[in-house]
Amino acid sequence: MRIVLGVGGGIAAYKVASLLRLFTEAGHDVTVIPTEASTRFVGTATWEALSGNPVSNSVFDDVHLVNHVRLGHEADLVVVAPATADLLAKAATGQAGDLLTNTLLMAHGPVLFAPAMHTEMWQHAATRTNVETLRARGATVLEPASGRLTGADSGPGRLPEPQVIFEAAMALVQGRSDYQLPLAGRTVTISAGGTREPLDPVRFLGNRSSGKQGVALAIAARNAGATVRLLAAHMEVPAPAGVDVQRVETALELREAALAAAADSDVVIMSAAVADFRPAEVSDTKIKKRDDTADPVITLVRNPDILQELVEQRNASRAGAGQLVVGFAAETGDSQGDVLAYAEAKLQRKGCDLLVVNHVGTDKVFGQDSNAVVILSRAGSEPQEASGTKTEVSEAIIRRISFELNHVSPRA
Ligand code: C5P
Repeated sequence: MRIVLGVGGGIAAYKVASLLRLFTEAGHDVTVIPTEASTRFVGTATWEALSGNPVSNSVFDDVHLVNHVRLGHEADLVVVAPATADLLAKAATGQAGDLLTNTLLMAHGPVLFAPAMHTEMWQHAATRTNVETLRARGATVLEPASGRLTGADSGPGRLPEPQVIFEAAMALVQGRSDYQLPLAGRTVTISAGGTREPLDPVRFLGNRSSGKQGVALAIAARNAGATVRLLAAHMEVPAPAGVDVQRVETALELREAALAAAADSDVVIMSAAVADFRPAEVSDTKIKKRDDTADPVITLVRNPDILQELVEQRNASRAGAGQLVVGFAAETGDSQGDVLAYAEAKLQRKGCDLLVVNHVGTDKVFGQDSNAVVILSRAGSEPQEASGTKTEVSEAIIRRISFELNHVSPRA
């Protein structure tokens, strides 16, 4: 497929290199048309090297090829990313001052705009009108992602992740012009990693959770179009781009963060390994080895069950009626019952809507890249199995969650 990739003059232009790679790796022939302003962020050499095609933003280069007409005519798809406020305005008013705007006027195939700009520009009446005009003419204008912007501020205006733009573009050429990412407009809160319960200033009780599953879920939810809040306890992997990250240490900190974030979330996924107990006392100073006193005995107290509290908060709030609460369970079977029997009992006890069950052995699950799970539903549908890499398993879990949200009626 022939794709024209228009690059607008915004800082997010650097992310479009990844989008270009996704297109070329999928076998598409991409011609990049950067605006003059965008080349102050990313130079044409980058686009030439990555696309393997010549790059120009002038109607006066290679005039004999009549590029200002030909590129738009021949393109099976035109994607503009980042679509700045300026580019949206020029496209909406039919301006033709450079090669990209000429190409937009000549495009015969579908056109996709992936906006990125400051929140106030996105929300400005002028931009709203331009977006409506473009949509009314049949162009697809994606919603920008929410989150951290270039400065310290945050809000809607981030360029959607390259994977999100890629998937929307592919859906568009397949004729699904009404295509919406399955979690578009949804807020998903995900806890990840393992809590650490301090004993003294240098020691803690921890667990082996790496955070890989939670991070993979955050990426899958983000790629499905959701605004993602990642509540990150201790993790061995970095937090992904394009999600809001809040760091937490202990179960009590996670509880506070989770209950607050859940209040306006459509989905809450508790994939963190939360310590069931914490030391009853935390020493202000390092506990010393001493020959003149007995060795210390650590007394533990129980941590609150956050998942259960999230379900209670959801059930108590009318606004939360449609919220989906998802728990994780790492189970082993024994002579009293198999893994699924224990998991089923846990699902009923905790009251969450879905429970993702891992079968744990000593070398399984923790820190591994692959996983096999069963998804149990409180509504009683058949247990669903998913296996593969943690990425694949996460995508299956997010697909299931999207299905529950979009096709299953809200919980009473
Ligand atoms: O009871 P168990 O720890 O096996 O349950 C696991 C599920 O409960 C996970 O989703 C975990 O994140 C959550 N959990 C919790 N608060 C705790 C313990 C576990 O939310 N104190």
